[in-house]
Amino acid sequence: MNKINWGIIGLGGIAHKFVLDLQLIEDANLYAVASRSLEKAEEFAIQYDADTFYGDYESLVNDEFVDIIYIATPHHLHYQWAICALQNGKSVLCEKPMGVNRHQVAEMIDMAVKNKVFLMEALWTRFNPAINEIEDRIKANEIGDLNYLNADFCFDMIDSTKDRVLNMDLAGGALLDIGIYPVFLAYLFFGKPLRVRAVGRKHESGADIQTAISMVFPNGMASLSCGFVSKSDMRAHLYGTKGKIEIFENWHESEGFSINDKEYHYPKQGRGYTYEIKECHWCLQSGKIQSELWSHENSLDLVDILDMIRAEIDLQYPFE
Ligand SMILES: NC(=O)c1ccc[n+]([C@@H]2O[C@H](COP(=O)([O-])OP(=O)(O)OC[C@H]3O[C@@H](n4cnc5c(N)ncnc54)[C@H](OP(=O)(O)O)[C@@H]3O)[C@@H](O)[C@H]2O)c1
Repeated sequence: MNKINWGIIGLGGIAHKFVLDLQLIEDANLYAVASRSLEKAEEFAIQYDADTFYGDYESLVNDEFVDIIYIATPHHLHYQWAICALQNGKSVLCEKPMGVNRHQVAEMIDMAVKNKVFLMEALWTRFNPAINEIEDRIKANEIGDLNYLNADFCFDMIDSTKDRVLNMDLAGGALLDIGIYPVFLAYLFFGKPLRVRAVGRKHESGADIQTAISMVFPNGMASLSCGFVSKSDMRAHLYGTKGKIEIFENWHESEGFSINDKEYHYPKQGRGYTYEIKECHWCLQSGKIQSELWSHENSLDLVDILDMIRAEIDLQYPFE
């Protein structure tokens, strides 16, 4: 079997989780890892049995044996390293948000198209089996016409030792970090909103720590929120003319839901990153430069909505 050689840049929290799911995929090979620290890269490579490691990102991008690069850095670096990888003919799975604003995402997509290489945002919830099943149930009219969605994503991370979540230079803040998930859910079920309103609270760093969002669509409304100051139930609700769906906690990585209180369970393979990895493999093996399930246009739409919300709460990053 021809294995697909993965390279990972940025060996932080998500890289450690992602790699465990990568090991569950038969035709995936963890080929190379890169960190700003050679010692850290070596340690990671030994821990997860990578073929090689680098003490800088560029060397990994230039390695001729790398097929696809998973960009797992803080937000502000997604654009720079995706562009660099795509220019070098490497496929890219880029952590969310794909870019910090529409301008960045559009340029990343242009580069993928120009170089005919695969690019996808790592919006893993899009590939979650329970979420996919809910889509089918709604299409099958099980709750009638969907007209209201309510979802949040709130964790208590305010004392986080993680510098990146509140650091404006790294495009920190709750909206881009976790608010992107409820915004995604509303977009998945309703499409692009006609109107968006948002209010929020900021940390002294300027990063948003609590944001409430209302959206109006041609056929319904969504009420969303995100925050770093308390843990919410992390259940999402979809209401239609014939009933409701509740997505169990944590809804963005859910293993089940109920329809009018009858439960359905969909256990995941691994932590749930396996599905986006399989989608990348399928696209690479089919010669596609984008996923049909989470396309370039979907990433552009999503960042457009995030830009609208940011305009509402007056959130601009210093490098923009
Ligand atoms: N899909 C999910 O479930 C999920 C979950 C969490 C986070 N994420 C996303 O994954 C990305 C990384 O998040 P994370 O939680 O893994 O962050 P993290 O633990 O802070 O790790 C990020 C890594 O990026 C590298 N890096 C490069 N420049 C940096 C800088 N100036 N400051 C800090 N780190 C820098 C570091 O790796 P080296 O030192 O090795 O270079 C660091 O370990 C973000 O886009 C986030 O939104 C996704």
